[in-house]
Amino acid sequence: MTLSGRVALVTGASQGIGRTCALRLAKDGAAVAVAARNQDKLNELVSEIVAAGGKAAAFALDVSDEEQVKSTLKSAIAQFGKIDILVNNAGITRDQLVMRMKRADWDAVLQTNLTSAYLCIQQVIGSMLKQRWGRIINITSVFGQMGQAGQANYSASKAGLIGLTMAIAREVGSRNITCNAVAPGFIETAMTAVLSDEFKQNAAKQIPLGRVGSPEDVASAVAFLASDDASYITGHVLNVNGGMLMG
Ligand code: NAI
Repeated sequence: MTLSGRVALVTGASQGIGRTCALRLAKDGAAVAVAARNQDKLNELVSEIVAAGGKAAAFALDVSDEEQVKSTLKSAIAQFGKIDILVNNAGITRDQLVMRMKRADWDAVLQTNLTSAYLCIQQVIGSMLKQRWGRIINITSVFGQMGQAGQANYSASKAGLIGLTMAIAREVGSRNITCNAVAPGFIETAMTAVLSDEFKQNAAKQIPLGRVGSPEDVASAVAFLASDDASYITGHVLNVNGGMLMG
């Protein structure tokens, strides 16, 4: 129970990596505020955590809506008394070659993947500064590190998260708050389920460990960065990519 006494908030927790992170943080002893748009899925997740002896509450939240971010995070802090660990996980893709990319798809991806992280950090940072302990973990992507054709918006948003991570790490390090990023490679979730089998088989061939990753692989990295074992790690990008990108 490395996280007992801690309170975590995970965005985009209704499915995939976010859901698995919430389950893992709860298993490690944290009370978890789970936030996403789909209240039914969140309620199911809360029941699962509570049935396993954990503590959780659901918060309906569209992270692309600034007012909702402000009011929902305030409600979560009011309910739990604090947020020690923030996992900025919510993310979308709107893929298209840049020549044809609509401005609306650029804006939606930047708003959901990057601006939301800045907004959530702003809401939790005050109480983290006061208590002189905090963990901020941003879920970026291997494509924020190496780019991907057809994903100019997504790659820019994920590269932006890495810059945000390092800036925040420098700003709040003196107050014992760490800010790190986790960069997954190819993870089996709804986001990658839309890709063809052929694409997935080819992608797996480029991965030295020879398999796509699971949400659990990512959740383990998040749980480590949230724990006291990672207290001297900040501004770091932790690759969870099976060796797809090294260095
Ligand atoms: P997913 O599509 O299963 O999950 C995305 C989550 O974000 C969902 O819970 C969704 O409801 C939530 N979300 C999307 N827009 C939202 C909004 N406006 N407000 C609140 N919640 C919103 O995908 P997955 O794979 O679990 O993705 C999680 C994170 O991991 C994303 O940031 C994604 O970019 C990142 N990632 C995923 C990889 C993969 O191969 N699956 C690889 C690298 C990064």
